[in-house]
Amino acid sequence: MKLLGTGSSLPRTQVSNDDLSKFLDTNDEWIYPRTGIKSRHVISDEKLEDLATDAARKAIADAGIEASEIDLIICSNVVNEFITPSLGCIVAYNLGISCPAYDINCACPGFIYAMDMADSFFRSGKVRKVLIVCAEEPSRMINWSDRSVCVLFGDGAGAAVFGEGDNLRATRLSAQPDPDKIYEKHVLQPTPYINKEEETVPMVMHGREVFRFAVTTSVRDITEILAECGLQPSQVDYFMIHQANQRIMDGIRERLGLPREKFPSNIRDHGNSSSASCPILLDECKRAGMFKKGDILVFSAFGAGLLSATAVLEV
Ligand code: UT7
Repeated sequence: MKLLGTGSSLPRTQVSNDDLSKFLDTNDEWIYPRTGIKSRHVISDEKLEDLATDAARKAIADAGIEASEIDLIICSNVVNEFITPSLGCIVAYNLGISCPAYDINCACPGFIYAMDMADSFFRSGKVRKVLIVCAEEPSRMINWSDRSVCVLFGDGAGAAVFGEGDNLRATRLSAQPDPDKIYEKHVLQPTPYINKEEETVPMVMHGREVFRFAVTTSVRDITEILAECGLQPSQVDYFMIHQANQRIMDGIRERLGLPREKFPSNIRDHGNSSSASCPILLDECKRAGMFKKGDILVFSAFGAGLLSATAVLEV
């Protein structure tokens, strides 16, 4: 498959580190050096499905196609106000189209998992155009009095339209299942029959262990996928790393021995927007005119599961 267009959409409200320190025992001096984050976009009066639809519309326009040409929507989302129907179906409804649509919950690597799925549909000849939408509102998952977690996240949506082609060189998905490292739980509707202990728990994250997992698996995934593609790291134009923490990105870059300019970053103004982070970064870089035809991009992302994924895409 090949990339035809990208789009993104962000909530209006931007919350700076100084804003957080008004109600939380934290400050810019702690947050910025440890994470690279200065501010994040946070949902206030917006609906996530509207951000997802806006990102999708922009990607469709950028691709120069009609929404009716889309054969499949894969939506990556951890949580939103709807349990059912899927966010993908709501986006299809908003776009006025009736193609198959579904959601995947693969946390932060969701964009790469979605690309891998889309690739299988293209290879089986079932589709000619696929829309991937990644829309996340982690600000609704966290405990806003837990300073070790809430300062890290931001909301948003990123989308990409793919058509037939040979530009997705490879994908690699991997899992190291460990549900305790990052999780959130909520109690479902009561029934007359439930007699077990259940609890609602905002997002819990073991930051240091996740940090180590992220750097180790990303370096391994990138090294393996480049070997599979017969590419040297120097032949890659840009490494599009999940925007979780600038120090994670720096750790990956240093271990690979590569220059800073190959690692675009927008975490300063976004924080970690889970699976939306890679397609938002892709859209911002594309709209800034950074890519030329034939450039090689390597995506790498990691998160709850624990899951990780990587992909090589020629633009
Ligand atoms: O998509 C994947 C999702 N997850 C991640 O990417 C997270 C990966 N992990 C990280 O990015 C880092 O582990 C963090 C940024 C979350 C934390 O950095 P750290 O250097 O591992 O700090 P820490 O959790 O070990 O905390 C060090 C100190 C503690 O104080 P004491 O116990 O040493 O007195 C914390 O209480 O920093 C304190 N602290 C804070 N202080 C001010 C933790 N959060 C804050 C805060 N403001 N926001």
